[in-house]
Amino acid sequence: MTDLTPITFIETDIEQIATHVGRIAVFVSPEGRLDAGARRVNKLMRGALVRLIAGDAFTKLKPGQGVAMAYPTGLAAEALDVIHLPRRVSVAEARRAGATLAKGRGAANLLVLAGGARRLADVAFGLAMRDYGFTDHKSDPQKRDGTVSVMCSKPEETQADAAPLMAIAAGAFMTRDLTNAPANVLTTTEFADQLVAMKKIGLKVEVLEEAELEKLGMRTLLCVGQGSDSPSKVVVMHWEGGEKGTAPLALVGKGVVFDTGGISLKPGAGMEDMTMDMGGAGVVAGVMRSLALRKAKANVVGLVGLVENMPSGNAVRPGDVITSMKGDTVEVINTDAEGRLVLCDVMWYAQDRFKPAAMIDLATLTGAIIVGLGNENAGVFSNDDAFCNDFLKAAATEGEGAWRMPLGQAYDDLLKSRIADMKNIGGRAAGSITAAQFLKRFVKDETPWIHLDIAGVASVKSETELAPVGATGWGVAALNRLISNRFETE
Ligand code: BES
Ligand code: MN
Ligand code: ZN
Repeated sequence: MTDLTPITFIETDIEQIATHVGRIAVFVSPEGRLDAGARRVNKLMRGALVRLIAGDAFTKLKPGQGVAMAYPTGLAAEALDVIHLPRRVSVAEARRAGATLAKGRGAANLLVLAGGARRLADVAFGLAMRDYGFTDHKSDPQKRDGTVSVMCSKPEETQADAAPLMAIAAGAFMTRDLTNAPANVLTTTEFADQLVAMKKIGLKVEVLEEAELEKLGMRTLLCVGQGSDSPSKVVVMHWEGGEKGTAPLALVGKGVVFDTGGISLKPGAGMEDMTMDMGGAGVVAGVMRSLALRKAKANVVGLVGLVENMPSGNAVRPGDVITSMKGDTVEVINTDAEGRLVLCDVMWYAQDRFKPAAMIDLATLTGAIIVGLGNENAGVFSNDDAFCNDFLKAAATEGEGAWRMPLGQAYDDLLKSRIADMKNIGGRAAGSITAAQFLKRFVKDETPWIHLDIAGVASVKSETELAPVGATGWGVAALNRLISNRFETE
């Protein structure tokens, strides 16, 4: 698994500046005066820092951006990063500053002269999040083994503030590693094994194998995996950090380790991207990891449906009618609309067994949500305005794009089947909404529920502020915030 870069906060010692080997960073607020560290840098550089700050290169920077000076005279360091950090810095700006440092760092040891700058925990979070690379399958990976030291005025307090954010970053790294992993490596069995390994950090983990799923009547889930040689599984992760007996939040993730489309085979071009079709399950795993690492005072149960959607002589066919665990029958019109078939059984099981206080499902569910919202926002669907608004607020605070979409009877009507209780697709129009309506049929009236269609945000082709190209870990921070705002005691 990809490790977080260790970040240590230490007392300021300006005597180390001249001799530090690696990179040095200073924070400069245009309206303020230079702090002691920056003044020492400027003195060693014979005034070059002050000249830089006065010039265009610095004044054009947005808050959080920086400019690098290579091989600065008077310093042993290979480069000096000058970061624009306003005194009244926002969370987003602080995180951007951290990301700027991470992008510049390479493998160098970085010494950050932070002085009395504010929101240093968020700087560290941005740095940790952006300092990610998926190198599991590179035979000669670019080394990123340097360390980061931050000299600041309250090192112990800042280290403590940063700890829960580092737990969130570690969760997001797990999500990214899982979502980036190729399907020959991340089989359903390997995925389950990695979840079971989280027992070490205090989660309870159960794996339900095919025979048990059969007994439970999860036929719609099983039919998706029946064309694959990899066994279908449901994994249940428990984090019991809240008061004993309080109903948990249930998180449910789509874990299609590869989606060929099945007999309704996808076109060849771009099919390799469907290694990320377990992204919803990846987010659930990442959130559970961060809850355990930061010892969250909440009860949360995470469930993932792990299957592979393959064509074969055993595969489910278009036209087959399948009975779900709930008992409703589904006419499978298109075997490529498989995510909803997996989720509906796991969602029903989650409600049946845990009577959750609320339920959130996450899935790379539809290409249509990418047509609608691009890679900027996940689609948000809900049966509960207050719960939904809490989530939207948490996502906005974390800078994770989320946009609410409508539900309604007219969309539900599009799922009518001639021979069964419903079809698994509603036609071309409003594809993301009919998918959500399908799921809604498996949500009990009393369960506050949010469905997150993350097909556009789970993995991206151009870098984002806090992630390189590939899996983003979208949702781990927003869900952590929602949990701490709404489900944690104290
Ligand atoms: N996994 C796909 C959705 C997807 C598309 C995720 C692109 C990420 C990027 C899903 O299982 C699927 O194939 N959906 C179909 C539904 C259709 C058959 C109704 C789609 O979106 O085309
Ligand atoms: Mn599909
Ligand atoms: Zn899929």
